[in-house]
Amino acid sequence: MRKIGIIGLGHVGATIAYTLVTKGIVDELVIIDTNDDKATAEEYDLRDTLARLDTFTKIIPQDYDALSDADLVITAFGNISSIKMDGDRFGELNFNAEAVKEIAANLKATTFNGVLINISNPCDVVTTLLQQQSGLSKNQVFGTGTFLDTARMQRAVGQALHEDPKNISGYVLGEHGESQYTAWSTVEVKGHPITQIASEKGLDLESLDQQARRGGWLVFSGKHYTCYAIATCAIKLAQAVLSDAHLACPTSVYIEEYGHYIGYPAVVGRKGIIEVNKISLSVAEKAQLDRSAKIIKEKLVH
Ligand code: LAC
Repeated sequence: MRKIGIIGLGHVGATIAYTLVTKGIVDELVIIDTNDDKATAEEYDLRDTLARLDTFTKIIPQDYDALSDADLVITAFGNISSIKMDGDRFGELNFNAEAVKEIAANLKATTFNGVLINISNPCDVVTTLLQQQSGLSKNQVFGTGTFLDTARMQRAVGQALHEDPKNISGYVLGEHGESQYTAWSTVEVKGHPITQIASEKGLDLESLDQQARRGGWLVFSGKHYTCYAIATCAIKLAQAVLSDAHLACPTSVYIEEYGHYIGYPAVVGRKGIIEVNKISLSVAEKAQLDRSAKIIKEKLVH
């Protein structure tokens, strides 16, 4: 029996719920929102989907106790009205830090002992707070972090080189926010180092890095939220947990050196983070990571 809970049924949470149900990924899905009407609406929209699917999912609304034996909880709460176009993701910090207190307390009151994947922004800060307050171990908790920004980098590089984004490998690291950066030393196109391709073809890596960083705002400017790319990242991570895939990818992971969560390569499986995948970065790339960590830390102490 595969059981997943989603806390927060905005555009992102609802898209994840819909995808989990229509792809037949879960047997039981617990959906929770602060707004009862919204939860009921999502519950029935999903229930009304079931008659046309080849798979069945039991939908359980508004029940924290039902999370007690869940394999995984995905947190996607937030307050969209506090996000300002061209600002940063810290706009939601005060609201979401308060939400963490309530959600962590509610989770603690259950016997939930699965994996928690956080999406809520600012992702690295909120993931750190959720781990600290939920009583779950550092391996059990991680955030989507720069997994999404890495997908945007793959899109930008793929577009520039007329390649399928899946043929681009490598990592965007650091904060899921303005101080993120592409670690170009890790990026390859079908096995060829991007730095080599860039000098041969005159690729502007700085502009591609900026496209990855600004990718969320590009979507936000047109529809006032983002959902498909982040939902797909969350689904991929959820499947890695459920199937113990040992998926190597960048996520918001706890780094001992910094004492908080930050986007860094890790390996994801049944127990959450199986290992932090230490990679060798150039001196400049490590300095960028340090700088990004400092920005996350400053928000944690205030
Ligand atoms: C984004 C949100 C999830 O970047 O932060 O799309």
